[in-house]
Amino acid sequence: MATDLTIQAQAAGFPLHRQKIKRLTNWLLGQCGVQDYTVSLLLTDDAEISRLNAQYRNKNQPTNVLSFPFGEGADANIAALPLKELGDIIISVETALREAIDYKLSLHERLSWLIIHGMLHLLGYDHERSANDEKKMFDKENELLHTLHTYRRRGMTTLAINVDHVATIRQARGITEPDPVFAAAICELAGASGIVVHLREDRRHMQDRDIYLLRQTVKTKLNLEMGANKDIIKIALDIKPDLITLVPEKRQELTTEGGLDVLAEKKKIAKVIEKMTAASIPVSLFTDPDAKQLAAARDVGATFVELHTGKYCDVIGEQNREHEFQLLVEAAEAASQMGLRVCAGHGLNYQNTAPIAALETIEELSIGHAIIARAVFTGLEQAVKEMLAILRQADCTI
Ligand code: PXP
Repeated sequence: MATDLTIQAQAAGFPLHRQKIKRLTNWLLGQCGVQDYTVSLLLTDDAEISRLNAQYRNKNQPTNVLSFPFGEGADANIAALPLKELGDIIISVETALREAIDYKLSLHERLSWLIIHGMLHLLGYDHERSANDEKKMFDKENELLHTLHTYRRRGMTTLAINVDHVATIRQARGITEPDPVFAAAICELAGASGIVVHLREDRRHMQDRDIYLLRQTVKTKLNLEMGANKDIIKIALDIKPDLITLVPEKRQELTTEGGLDVLAEKKKIAKVIEKMTAASIPVSLFTDPDAKQLAAARDVGATFVELHTGKYCDVIGEQNREHEFQLLVEAAEAASQMGLRVCAGHGLNYQNTAPIAALETIEELSIGHAIIARAVFTGLEQAVKEMLAILRQADCTI
């Protein structure tokens, strides 16, 4: 299933969400039963679509959508096509935007309709041949729109909040506040789906007391981040968190610096997983977006991987960021295909989270610093709600 999407320079100024458009078109191929075919989708402007309209339809004016089936005259008999290519759909984003404003829709909603319309033409539907054909096309269009509006992939990407930074502020004074246990309750009341805490060997932020209390108070899910360290393993087996996430831990680091080297530490990690599995505690491995590490994670019996988003977040320059993003896209897909459940986190903030949250295979994001930092100014409840709004927005349509 493939959508070959081109956004021409003339259309690049419009607020287009490349991933969302591709996802929608791929979904549509699946809905129409032609998931193993390729469709070529070109988003352009009025001038270019007028030129094509004049050249191929003798109509020297802009239109919203044009379709050119690959097998001319093949009608609905796509099985007769020599290649698994349906043809081209060309849309003027300029016209689509005008129509969206007229019909009080978002640009994406209008584009969705036009892509459906264009796709049906490629599949042999026609609204000009006869009244009967027009009705058939209209009915199919409505059916697909209805399915689209009621379709929910698997619920939105959920948000687990790391409250270590609240403990960091407390430890700066060595007193009892602010209390990460209170913070966790506020996060849950604001809509978080889980609480994450890292009990470090050096106890620089979270203390044993926090972990034991949180085990009793957290109502959603408690995810204990930890190094594969004997004492911490003992605590984990004692409190039985809902999930543990194994991370590499170095004494001198400010925060977790990279993913686990699962390949190099297979034996050690497998042993921890074995112990946790015996206690019915699922294990997540914090890994870089690297296929070999993911395969090793699967081999040692991990249930989840948490993809390290740090590089994507920290890299400078749009091109580099896009490269890091693509690595995450591929890794999330590969991990999911291997049967691993996929989470992601580290360095995510209010500016860079949306594209990651839109990835279909990622179940949950683990976010700490950005939320606690914003909470200093807005209050914790508000900071959580603003992050949840980003996740909801990334999810709400295909
Ligand atoms: N995931 C893991 C494995 C981490 O170690 C951390 C940092 O504690 C996070 C997620 C959250 O990162 P941040 O605080 O940058 O949101």
